[in-house]
Amino acid sequence: MNIGVLTGGGDCPGLNAVIRAIVRKAHGVGGHRVLGFYDAWDGVLEKRYEVLDISKVRGILPKGGTILGTRRGSPFDYPDGVERTKQVFAELGLDALVVIGGNGSLTVASMLADDHGLPIIGVPKTIDNDVVGTDATFGFQTAVQIATDAIDRLHTTAESHDRVMVVEVMGRDAGWIALHAGLAGGATAILVPEVPFDTREVANIVSKRHDRGRYASLVVVAEGAKPKPGTLDVPEPALDKYGRELHGSISQVVAPALSKLTGYESRVVQLGHVQRGGTPTAYDRVLSSRFGLAAVDAVYAKAFGLMVALHCGRIERVSMQVTRGQTRTIDLDLFNDVAAAFFG
Ligand code: F6P
Repeated sequence: MNIGVLTGGGDCPGLNAVIRAIVRKAHGVGGHRVLGFYDAWDGVLEKRYEVLDISKVRGILPKGGTILGTRRGSPFDYPDGVERTKQVFAELGLDALVVIGGNGSLTVASMLADDHGLPIIGVPKTIDNDVVGTDATFGFQTAVQIATDAIDRLHTTAESHDRVMVVEVMGRDAGWIALHAGLAGGATAILVPEVPFDTREVANIVSKRHDRGRYASLVVVAEGAKPKPGTLDVPEPALDKYGRELHGSISQVVAPALSKLTGYESRVVQLGHVQRGGTPTAYDRVLSSRFGLAAVDAVYAKAFGLMVALHCGRIERVSMQVTRGQTRTIDLDLFNDVAAAFFG
């Protein structure tokens, strides 16, 4: 068999572990040919790939990023993109393509598989943990650990200066990283896209904490957090070349607002792509490896249009259609009943 693999969307710790698992099982055990396409769909459309054997994946398990490179964008960006993709599948004799991606890439993969008949299997990834149909994505745990380590460090400097630290983490549509890192790091308050906030309420929490003699506050803000309508002016974000909002401004607005309302000095820390870089945690390496092996089983079973997913600790297959244009938002019980119990 000829089995293709590509990584799409934003990179994420654990991508290389998936690629390694696919090559070890499909090529190493099964004797099949694995074609790694460079730069996501660009590599498919331009027939840029490399044949991956065991030597090519040696040592990549702990490496962050992706040896294949990644891009946003898809065949649907071109009028003849789907036809060209079909042609490439035929020319290369591709029996299957494994797409490792987040919501955007899986939506595209689902459309190509179910609406255009291409033999595609999905593997869900993203540090944001916001893919519908799986209990978790790999990369998330690593990002949470990085953010938690940063919050721990910020506590001591915030205490020394009696400051309010506003820490911005990734999460444009879902606040999973903010919720988990904020909870693990003992945040004074956590702001997530799912629950519009009012800076006056946050300022009250901060002031009460300082009144109790607890110096310094850590407010963790997801990049996509939104104020309640009419409570705070947030500048319109710029757009990237794919028309997606470029985040990174919410903490810049929240911090001065909190200073003004509480009288305490504030500082902003935007963790940005630090959360996506570097080596995956052991948990993410294990999940990625399991996903990679399960993706090869799905190829053998011709389970096209499906993705591998984690359900109650087991790896199962679900239709990629559930991801189309969807976002898996946070567990509101965890936010309201657990995280909020520690606010202040
Ligand atoms: O991978 C998802 C994500 O981490 C979002 O949380 C973030 O907004 C986005 O990627 C930024 O990615 P890039 O800068 O690569 O476009």
